[in-house]
Amino acid sequence: MKAVSGFSKMSKEEKISWLSSQLDGEAKKMVNQMPVYWHHDGAIQKRLDEFSENTLTNFDMPFGIAPNFLINGKTYSVPMVIEESSVVAAASLGAKFWYERGGFTTKVLSIKKVGQIHFLWQGKKEKLFNFFKDNKMDLLNSVKHLAQNMEQRGGGVLSFEIIDLTEKMENYFQLKLEFDTCNAMGANFINSILEEVSAVFKSKVNGEDSFTGSEKDLQVIMCILSNYTPECLVECSVQCPIEDLGTINGMAPRQFAERFAAAVRIAEVDTGRAVTHNKGIMNGIDSVVLATGNDFRAVEACAHAYAAKDGQYRSLSKVELTQDIFKFSLTVPLAVGTVGGLTTLHPLAKTSLAILEQPSSKELMQVIAAVGLAQNFGAVKSLVTTGIQKGHMKLHLLNVFNQLGATSVQIEKGKEYFSDKVVSFTAVRDYLELTKQLQ
Ligand code: MEV
Repeated sequence: MKAVSGFSKMSKEEKISWLSSQLDGEAKKMVNQMPVYWHHDGAIQKRLDEFSENTLTNFDMPFGIAPNFLINGKTYSVPMVIEESSVVAAASLGAKFWYERGGFTTKVLSIKKVGQIHFLWQGKKEKLFNFFKDNKMDLLNSVKHLAQNMEQRGGGVLSFEIIDLTEKMENYFQLKLEFDTCNAMGANFINSILEEVSAVFKSKVNGEDSFTGSEKDLQVIMCILSNYTPECLVECSVQCPIEDLGTINGMAPRQFAERFAAAVRIAEVDTGRAVTHNKGIMNGIDSVVLATGNDFRAVEACAHAYAAKDGQYRSLSKVELTQDIFKFSLTVPLAVGTVGGLTTLHPLAKTSLAILEQPSSKELMQVIAAVGLAQNFGAVKSLVTTGIQKGHMKLHLLNVFNQLGATSVQIEKGKEYFSDKVVSFTAVRDYLELTKQLQ
């Protein structure tokens, strides 16, 4: 492919045509087909284009609903956007299973978001710390105008401290601010405050009489929110008497509970399993985060850092098994918003929030955690009983048929044929070949 200049200035049609001119055969054909995926409503398409840069078309993902989520006594139908088969089915089954056993109990433990100003300073640490103490209120007052609206909504800056990190890196200090951003994810709010505080801080240091030489030269390296928000935390659990679990996939309740608990403990002690275990949780979490227009990369990064908070990467969920009671719980940091950003701009994110009856960010954290736990329950339940492939491949079958270009008649007949057989890509391909030859 050739290098290009001025690509971003081209219209969408020109971009497609340039890209197509660089390709041959099937690839060229596919690129020329891209307008097929444009939204029929021009206004919506314009909005989608404006979310990102150099957009050519839209990338569709399925939007599904997992009904029957009983959370703290309220029933939700939860929107989920995910491309992987079985995830929505597992969430729905998990929701129904726990609906009949009292539902999910959730609690937001804290809602703190974090911002950091990273800077280098040469001089006596005590001098800098005293200077910070003397100027802390002034610095906070300097951003009052930016925090005003958030404060009116009940949020704002919660704490402001200076941290000495010179043991980790020469001359490295940090100003750390904690925020309550109410129903907003708050990235823009936090970053604007950080940049303003840092400019005022730098100029105050520069003008400080008691500082001399290099002490006056504070180097702000960067100001940015931290996506590690271990104190934006939600907890979610389900529990019931072991006998009430009933027979699960042919397994007696106590045997199931013990095998399930062993599987979760394995994910607590073995990182190899923990990553896959948590991936199952994130299947549920990400799909609601995406459906509601939130930042799934931030949620992912934070969840995994949190899973490794004690130095080893571990399961985010845990099981408590007493003589009679099975309790399964999840504690996870979730920095999400229900106002601002894509939540109101993306038409389907807006629809998702309407389906959830306009939750606050705290309520959304709880719904997302419940879906993560339901998902984890579904995956581990299959793993310790029938194995994952039985249910998974049945749903995957449709994807394989579609990949191989099967007709709807072939798919219907094929579903019947594979109802008692092991599904694999080769088996489906061979089946299609055979049926073609028989026609
Ligand atoms: C697949 O997307 C997720 C699982 O691997 C999760 C797990 O193993 O717990 C099934």
